[in-house]
Amino acid sequence: MTREEILSELKRLEPWFHRINLGGGLFTKTESVMGEPVDHPFGPWQTIQELLPRDLSDKTLLDVGCNAGFYAFEAKLRGARRVLGVDGQRQHVRQGLFVRKVLGLDVEFRRLNVYELNARTVGQFDVTLALGLLYHLKHPILALENLYQVTKELLIIETAIMPPEQTPESFAHPLGEQQMFLHPLAFVENPTQAKEQVFNWFLPGIDALRAMLRTTGFDEIEVVESKNERAIVVCRKKKGTSRENDALKHFVAQLKLEAGPHTVSASSELSFRLRVENVGLARWSTAGDAGDETGAVSLGSHLLRADEEEVDWDYGRAALPRDLEPGDTADIEFRVRAPRTAGRYIVEFDMVAEHVTWFEDHGSGTLRQPLIVE
Ligand SMILES: C[S@@+](CC[C@H](N)C(=O)[O-])C[C@H]1O[C@@H](n2cnc3c(N)ncnc32)[C@H](O)[C@@H]1O
Repeated sequence: MTREEILSELKRLEPWFHRINLGGGLFTKTESVMGEPVDHPFGPWQTIQELLPRDLSDKTLLDVGCNAGFYAFEAKLRGARRVLGVDGQRQHVRQGLFVRKVLGLDVEFRRLNVYELNARTVGQFDVTLALGLLYHLKHPILALENLYQVTKELLIIETAIMPPEQTPESFAHPLGEQQMFLHPLAFVENPTQAKEQVFNWFLPGIDALRAMLRTTGFDEIEVVESKNERAIVVCRKKKGTSRENDALKHFVAQLKLEAGPHTVSASSELSFRLRVENVGLARWSTAGDAGDETGAVSLGSHLLRADEEEVDWDYGRAALPRDLEPGDTADIEFRVRAPRTAGRYIVEFDMVAEHVTWFEDHGSGTLRQPLIVE
């Protein structure tokens, strides 16, 4: 591209939040747009770069809320094997693609919201960056679970926090029978028309931030910096630890009926075909945790009357064809016998981890299929 073409694209793609050196004395931005230092994010990068693995050459890196891609390009310049930048706003993906063209660096960009991230949509990365992201989210826990799912080793978070001098201490408080810890977290009230990705929603106190990350399942959480109402946190996952196993009890399924009857004769053989997808953090094992059937995951169902009265809580089981990792999908044939008595019923399908839980108790959606028996 000629200098004139670059300058014209820079103008077209304004406003720029990231100042990226394009060479030849050209930078993506020359003045501050939102009160941030004009050289943003040069300041935080000084800390962030020290937190990345020294040798990135065999690492893959995902930058969530990548904006114009400053961090993604820096990671590539430091030799990362693969870098993917995702941002919920198309405008920033356009900026990233333009910078990629000018710099000639092999960084991928996709428009993806953090809520769309999972092992199926993007796979897993050794390192994930979530910088300047968390406080822009109305559903921070959901986003942290997705970040956990797509991260193999290391997640680095940079976020605005609740002003420390206004943050009450965490305290123990009885809730029901249990003494629980309550950690302050501020909700920011916005105008009703506020765009989620642009406004601030939750500002966690440091203790709340730590607790949220612990609850998500990270093994090590280190607050490496906390100043000027912002914090930088390093979160690590360790393979095979008990905390990982705790997080892996996150059983969530998405169930879709591919084929199945609506109206049937009493006592007839019924066959349903369902597509099941593992959309949680837990691996679904066909054998269970300890080799016995405890924890073995299969498809189950309940037979209810149309008025929700239970007829048969354990209305059959169908095995998974194989173990399913988060993001995996399988088709399952489910065979049962229709009720002997005519009437209107509901067959409610749910996954079950034997002697551990029905997935509905983990907030997973079930699939309800009305059934008329004649
Ligand atoms: C404050 S900027 C931070 C940009 C960059 N990560 C940094 O630290 O300089 C927040 C970025 O996150 C993106 N973002 C906000 N909400 C998002 C969401 N739900 N999913 C993906 N990206 C989001 C915004 O579009 C914006 O580019």
